[in-house]
Amino acid sequence: MDSTLLLPRVLRVGAGARHEIGEVLQSLGLSRPFLVVDEFLKGQGHAEALEQSLRQRGMALRIFSGVVPDPTTDSIDVGLNVLKDGDHDAIIALGGGSAIDTAKFIAVMATREGKLRNYKVPATLDSGLPVIAIPSTAGTGSEATRAAVATDSETQEKMLCMGLGLMPVAALVDYELSMTMPYRLTADAGLDSLCHALEAYVSRKANPFTDPIALSCMRSIVEYLPIACAEPDNRAAREAMMLAATQGGIAFSNASVTLIHGMSRPIGAHFHVPHGLSNAMLLPEVTAWSVPGATERYADSARAMGYAAQSDNTEVAVAKLVTGLRQLCADLKVPSPAEFGIAESDWKSLTPLMAEQALASGSPANNPQVPEREDIIGLYERVWVAS
Ligand SMILES: [Fe+2]
Repeated sequence: MDSTLLLPRVLRVGAGARHEIGEVLQSLGLSRPFLVVDEFLKGQGHAEALEQSLRQRGMALRIFSGVVPDPTTDSIDVGLNVLKDGDHDAIIALGGGSAIDTAKFIAVMATREGKLRNYKVPATLDSGLPVIAIPSTAGTGSEATRAAVATDSETQEKMLCMGLGLMPVAALVDYELSMTMPYRLTADAGLDSLCHALEAYVSRKANPFTDPIALSCMRSIVEYLPIACAEPDNRAAREAMMLAATQGGIAFSNASVTLIHGMSRPIGAHFHVPHGLSNAMLLPEVTAWSVPGATERYADSARAMGYAAQSDNTEVAVAKLVTGLRQLCADLKVPSPAEFGIAESDWKSLTPLMAEQALASGSPANNPQVPEREDIIGLYERVWVAS
């Protein structure tokens, strides 16, 4: 099958890239930006710094800081109404995945009528105001993807939306913004990114463009994520993680995520587990179950991550992969669902519904071993028992 590859038109990567926002806007012919930022970054003075540098170029900036963790249709509507009070030709997203996804949804809904749920997958959102993304966390890769996720405030469904309108026109990837990420956020965001790369590499939609990017991402994360967690001021580790996160975004946006993300979204929606953490809870068990569908590719991944030697045969390499992922999650203090505070009775009673929602997202269909509903129910049960 041919592959369709989508990327931001401009990617600027490196220390200080955020300061190039004015030049990038001008190069794209844009001059009336609307900034979507989370309160934390605004409080650190980053929004003000952007505003000042844009003012020097004669551009006024309006700021919306009502981003909530895991955006909802209600929180997006608030931002949309603020946007419509002004006259804007671009949206700047500054923050983590929640800020970037909020900005993306405001951008596409600015030119549409009706409810966001009308546009969830399998529908597509192919147009909208241009978004320039400046990520502050090394994880979601949303700055380089054509996807965004929001929770429907009426139904509590975590909706996946896709389309060219959700792909930022530019991304300024500046690791200096990630230096203040706390331990748990660093670990969870990094593990999210590791899932992006691993899922993209074993996906049925994997392709020769995304394969080396995914392997490079996996290699960096296993080497540098523990360092970034243990030494938050380590610039080399922060830089490597930020680049890896963008690579992970590029890989999965063009090759798809698979079963881990498919099963993770319902956990996030029902139990309010942060996205990276719910992926990490699933990572070892779902990988172990999926290995028979793409054994060689999982072995490649084990070698890229350094869990297996180049000389290890396939069988040995995949065994080391599952062991290595379990150890990584333990080292990074990933809690089990029970340790997170989920009651066993709630987990078990919601498992059938979560399995249906996972299948409905479409992501499990890209898994190398495609699950039936009963397989997913069994995996949710195994994750509870194993952790
Ligand atoms: Fe993710």
